[in-house]
Amino acid sequence: MKVLVIGSGGRENALCYAIAKSKRVDKIFCAPGNAGISKYAECVPIGAMEFDKLISFAKEKSIDLTVVGMDDPLAGGIVDEFEKAGLRVFGPRKNAAILEASKAFSKDLMKKYDIPTASYETFTDASSACEYLKNAKMPIVLKASGLALGKGVLICETLEEALDGVHELMEDKKFGDAGNTIVIEEFMTGREVSVLSFVDGDTIRIMSSAQDHKRAKDNDEGLNTGGMGNYSPSPFYTKEVDEFCQEHIYQRTVDAMKAEGRPFKGVIFFGLMLTEDGPKVLEYNARFGDPEAQVVLPRMKNDIVDVFEACIDGTLSDIELEFSDEACVCVILASDGYPVSYEKGFPICGLDRFEGKSDYLCFHSGTKFNDAGEIVTNGGRVLGVTALGSSIREARKKAYEACDWVNFQNKYMRSDIAKAGEEAELNR
Ligand code: AMP
Ligand code: GLY
Repeated sequence: MKVLVIGSGGRENALCYAIAKSKRVDKIFCAPGNAGISKYAECVPIGAMEFDKLISFAKEKSIDLTVVGMDDPLAGGIVDEFEKAGLRVFGPRKNAAILEASKAFSKDLMKKYDIPTASYETFTDASSACEYLKNAKMPIVLKASGLALGKGVLICETLEEALDGVHELMEDKKFGDAGNTIVIEEFMTGREVSVLSFVDGDTIRIMSSAQDHKRAKDNDEGLNTGGMGNYSPSPFYTKEVDEFCQEHIYQRTVDAMKAEGRPFKGVIFFGLMLTEDGPKVLEYNARFGDPEAQVVLPRMKNDIVDVFEACIDGTLSDIELEFSDEACVCVILASDGYPVSYEKGFPICGLDRFEGKSDYLCFHSGTKFNDAGEIVTNGGRVLGVTALGSSIREARKKAYEACDWVNFQNKYMRSDIAKAGEEAELNR
């Protein structure tokens, strides 16, 4: 069969890698793709938001299945458009993708259905938000309700910072219309864990846990980013945590969406915080995480195309997911300056070192071919250097070793990805 993947990041590279393993797939296309994706798929120069062009392409090439990796097209209703055109597509419809696209919606859903999360208030005008903040406990968290590349969250230590934050989000519109509505939320402390799942509208199957590292600098300092590296599984996601989430969070979320007339089919990514009062939902995403996909998919043993189809057809209850016991670690090689400002267009060398090594993978996030046919940097996050190993310790050692194989000007990485995981593993 022929599969079309939509997106251009490390997540889509990991998706193409997983789809390429399927015995059922003869040909993969990716729109728009990137230099690394071209190893698995024919890249097509159509943007992820160009729905009409994507539909024409899918019809012209008789695509059997389209897989949407990114949040923006999902929130924009790409799945509804493909379905209207009679095409098979994996991902939530617009009315379900709102689970990620509106934090105001997801917070209200959690409140209504008693799903554990931080307490919050929603505001659509800056003056009421500022008034509310004057009596609020600090630190406090401000969130642009809409999509903001994972960056629309401000953690404010003082009232002054919080008031500035409201101006930044609602008046200066730092994240555009995403900040028209803001959520002001109680600050929680604890360890964060990401959990990816497949959902078919009724049934939910948990893939595996992963541990992201969102801050730009070592020791979780610096600005929040899309993710600087991660590993799977997380030693902090214990059996007890899993049992709690199965009972209070996962199925309850799926049932809540169904009860609201918004059945969710696709991937739900639960951003959890393990607080002293138990696990709470920080956020939902309506798609695979990036870089979570880079560490979860290499561990998955199922034919991913079977699972995509089961989600579409509502037969996920027939499938048991299987993951290898290996650990997987991904270190992001970024352009120095990310997530604020950075230069692009530098040639990348050393990529050939990954050839023929199935336990070392180099997923491309922001790369492209320049006119001379060289692979050059083309984004803030450039590569996800990933390794599998029998333990977190081994996978981490291998991933960092492989980070030295690759070079480009302004290469930047954190040096402590999976360090806490390695320590937790040793202490078990
Ligand atoms: P979100 O996009 O909602 O996951 O937020 C991005 C990051 O901000 C999270 O991964 C957390 O590190 C942090 N964060 C979000 N909400 C809270 C909260 N209520 N308390 C503490 N930290 C938070
Ligand atoms: N790694 C977090 C995300 O994909 O949003």
